[in-house]
Amino acid sequence: LDSADINEIKELCKTNLIDGITTNPSLIAKSGGNILDVIKEICGLVRGPVSAEVTATDHKAMMMEAEKLLNLAENVTIKVPLTSDGLLTCKELSKNNVSVNVTLCFSASQAILAAKAGATFISPFVGRLDDIGQSGLDLIYDIVEIYNNYNYKTQVLVASIRGVNHVIESAKIGADVVTIPTKTFKEMFNHPLTDKGLKAFLSDWQDTGQSIL
Ligand code: G3P
Repeated sequence: LDSADINEIKELCKTNLIDGITTNPSLIAKSGGNILDVIKEICGLVRGPVSAEVTATDHKAMMMEAEKLLNLAENVTIKVPLTSDGLLTCKELSKNNVSVNVTLCFSASQAILAAKAGATFISPFVGRLDDIGQSGLDLIYDIVEIYNNYNYKTQVLVASIRGVNHVIESAKIGADVVTIPTKTFKEMFNHPLTDKGLKAFLSDWQDTGQSIL
């Protein structure tokens, strides 16, 4: 899930279908909580990676912030922006076996640099590219192709998802992960024919007067 809303995360973790959480400074601000408290609580709600983004822009301060965030829980993944300082930080953290999610990726050239910097995850923002009339999914296709060509281990984590179609098309392309807003995650369950079919099954079943228990 792409969220820092504790209540939303608690609700959807009950589905047992959530592998991890991504946050960013805007989502933390929206949560109204202190980043250290919010990330620590989220890390206790899911077993998988929880992306916590540094807010510094220079390498030295990024490393200091990363150390503080990593001390919160075992499943913290450090999120850094795709800048030269962000990739310097990614390289140093990944050399120390720290999980790093390189975010704000908008081109295949940026994705190549992130893989060379040892990123665990690369986060291309499909929705924001669509918003300016480009094809976010074409970028996913290009990155997956390039990473496969060189057997890069960096996982493609599709971000800035705007609807179920982004999830489906990313999966068809072969992206490793999608980070999904709660609204879209809930929409994934829904189809009118499922509702209609279940209603008909239960109506026919009721007519039998039977009970399984
Ligand atoms: O969290 C990173 C990304 O998912 C942000 O998405 O909707 O703000 O473009 P959005």
